[in-house]
Amino acid sequence: MSINKVFSILCVAVSFVVVAAKTGPSHDKVVVCYLSTWAVYRPNRGSYSIDNFDANLCTHVIYAFSGLDSKTDAIKSLDPWQDLKDDYGKGGYEHLTSLKKNHPHLKVTLAIGGWNEGSKNYSIMAADPSRRKRFVKSASNFVRKFNFDGLDLDWEYPTQRDGAPEDKENFVQLVKELRDELKPHNLLLTSAIGASIKVIDEAYNVRELSKYLDFLHIMCYDYGGSWDKKITANAPLHSDNELNVEATIKHLIKLGASPSKIVMGIPFYGRTFITDLEGNYGDASTDEAFQGPFTRENGFLGYNEICALLSNRTAKWTSSWDSETSQGIARHRDEVSGETRVVVYDTTRTIAKKMRFAMQHNLAGVMSWSIDTDDFLGDCNVEEETFNDFGNTAGVKLTFPKRVNSNYPLLRTINEGIIIALDEIDQENAIRESEVENEISHGDESANGGIACSAVS
Ligand SMILES: *[C@@H]1O[C@H](CO)[C@@H](O)[C@H](O)[C@H]1NC(C)=O
Ligand SMILES: *[C@@H]1O[C@H](CO)[C@@H](O)[C@H](O)[C@H]1NC(C)=O
Repeated sequence: MSINKVFSILCVAVSFVVVAAKTGPSHDKVVVCYLSTWAVYRPNRGSYSIDNFDANLCTHVIYAFSGLDSKTDAIKSLDPWQDLKDDYGKGGYEHLTSLKKNHPHLKVTLAIGGWNEGSKNYSIMAADPSRRKRFVKSASNFVRKFNFDGLDLDWEYPTQRDGAPEDKENFVQLVKELRDELKPHNLLLTSAIGASIKVIDEAYNVRELSKYLDFLHIMCYDYGGSWDKKITANAPLHSDNELNVEATIKHLIKLGASPSKIVMGIPFYGRTFITDLEGNYGDASTDEAFQGPFTRENGFLGYNEICALLSNRTAKWTSSWDSETSQGIARHRDEVSGETRVVVYDTTRTIAKKMRFAMQHNLAGVMSWSIDTDDFLGDCNVEEETFNDFGNTAGVKLTFPKRVNSNYPLLRTINEGIIIALDEIDQENAIRESEVENEISHGDESANGGIACSAVS
């Protein structure tokens, strides 16, 4: 082989490595992005297709959802025209997995289940060893056929919604058998996990699941909504009861989930309310609430719909920050009817604070439900208060990035927030350690006890 040839092969190899190193987030935490593929049917600037996806902002993207064919125990497409290429279909599966070619960092997995699939058919399949076996084989073949990197289980939820008490152990069995099938093919197995303490206790053997799953995607949202008939928080970081993100994560860790497998969910949407009162937490509200022009679902507004209201001066919406729950509360009072419309949602400031919480607890990373309701077109005004809660410790100096692009403000906050939170934690630890060293050198050895738990205060 000539020197030239060796050189050019080397060049190709080197440039490949350079390209490979350049794609994706610049931290090493997990950013899981759920893509609800029916978002393509939303009207106007709400319509989200795979072409809108920015692979550099996620480490994992999940195609949601596929379904269960309970006659054959097979995994199946729920929208063949959108998902497949047959009969001139749009081939969404292969479109999404093909992005790996130019984004070597990206893992693309397929979710099965979701709210609309219910629980019963999963319960029946998981209870029967031979049916489980058929499902496991089908899922493995299906995932590999379309070049996915793995499977994400979204059974909502074992033991709930017409499920059976035996689901709790049958789900572990299903997960174990799937893991044994997928692992030799180097495929990922993950699962969405409900956030309510009651559901967690009834549905999941957390310690066993944490052994067999690569990641647990915790759905840390829907803690409150119009069904409460009073104004409550969708995804509070803290609260005066157990309906909050911190309580969920701490409970899972207590039950034996490894933090290195926990991926904390962030809602890219808010919950809506209508009230005759001022629009504060606890104010009585109707159970119907209102919907948005893109997502058209009562009680729900995508972040892109919320920020459009707030960016529109003639619409006269205002937003305030609630520091107890770390939620944004947007309001609009109709002077004629006297009604106040309210949305409780995750602002960029909420998300930044949640990144710090996730990093302080050494979690694997975060996931978003779902990226199609981020302001993916960059239509809205930029929020100014994103990192207000950072850099308040004396001696800590943080650099906040200047954003080049105005689209995907929430996903960008996640990626920037992870880097800034890790930097802040490192600096705070260094400051504490040097304080302790100083105290020791002055002869006070009892000060040593403070180091071990300082990172998670
Ligand atoms: C569950 O299975 C039954 C029987 O195959 C089917 O008719 C039904 O549509 C399935 N339920 C869902 C929510 O898919
Ligand atoms: C802004 O709000 C006004 C009043 O609600 C509405 O008529 C108008 O269509 C909105 N503009 C945009 C761009 O959404």
